[in-house]
Amino acid sequence: MKDDFGREISYLRVSVTQRCNLNCVYCGKTDCAKKETELSPETFYVIAKAFAACGIKKIRITGGEPLVRGDICEIVRLLRSLPEIGTLSLTTNGVYLAQYAARLKEAGLDSVNISLDSTDEGVYRHLTGADALRRVLEGVDAARAAGLSPVRINAVLMRGVNDDGAGALIDLARRLPIDVRFIELMPFSAEGEDPLLRITGEEILRRFPFLEPAESGGGTAEYYTAEGFAGRVGLISPVTRKFCGDCSRIRLLSDGRVKPCLGYDTTYDLKPYLGDEERLREEIGKIIRKKPAGHSFDTQSGPRGLNRTGG
Ligand code: 5AD
Repeated sequence: MKDDFGREISYLRVSVTQRCNLNCVYCGKTDCAKKETELSPETFYVIAKAFAACGIKKIRITGGEPLVRGDICEIVRLLRSLPEIGTLSLTTNGVYLAQYAARLKEAGLDSVNISLDSTDEGVYRHLTGADALRRVLEGVDAARAAGLSPVRINAVLMRGVNDDGAGALIDLARRLPIDVRFIELMPFSAEGEDPLLRITGEEILRRFPFLEPAESGGGTAEYYTAEGFAGRVGLISPVTRKFCGDCSRIRLLSDGRVKPCLGYDTTYDLKPYLGDEERLREEIGKIIRKKPAGHSFDTQSGPRGLNRTGG
């Protein structure tokens, strides 16, 4: 269905937990909501079914880190059973992916985005607080071996912190049939608020002039490739090339609240309507219509704690 600005809202992001096993500097991680507040797989299914009736055709599971939930495969299996849902994907930091990839695929997951900001062990540890680079790289291999497709890497570059590793990340897209995407730093933490730290999409193109435009397919990323590349490089520029006018997203949080825009704290609780499917659909319709026109990351910081919404 359309919101009041005429945008077709067809993409639901489901944050299944706020808990995360990493502490990335740019996330602005806040106190995680307790495990007890997280919805059960069945409740996610009931709410997602109501969203599907309102026009949702694509779901991405996020967190926190979704693979900290022991019942993640059950969540995938139930969401997969919704006939309206085309693509079902998941965003993970990849630390537990090697052990889950095959089971996730079997449960019906199509594709996976893996957050990886550096291929240098020390820099990775500095950015995330964990010595887990090797496990993430094993996760990338396991996802490909399991047949999850596409496999994408999401990286956030920060000037003077990990930007000198951009070439090594791009090299992954040369060697492997995966998309390596650079997301502009958004203002969710003190670091994120410093515009000097942000490496824009344009700057990446200046630094790597061999990148040539590739077929992009209408998502938030603009894709590039180069001679001899097995994969692609994607640029996602929410700050310098704001895509709110084409936004098709809505977010369900792990405790049953809906967050219509990443740029605002506003949420709407669906828990009171859980017993009544028709009422649930009505409320979702109202919330979709009220989605804000866009964020103001150029002039204002975003709410703290991307662990609450999963991006
Ligand atoms: N700016 C841009 N991207 C961010 N992510 C987390 N925090 C920020 C930020 N401040 C990314 C993570 C992950 C995705 C869910 O969001 O790296 O890939």
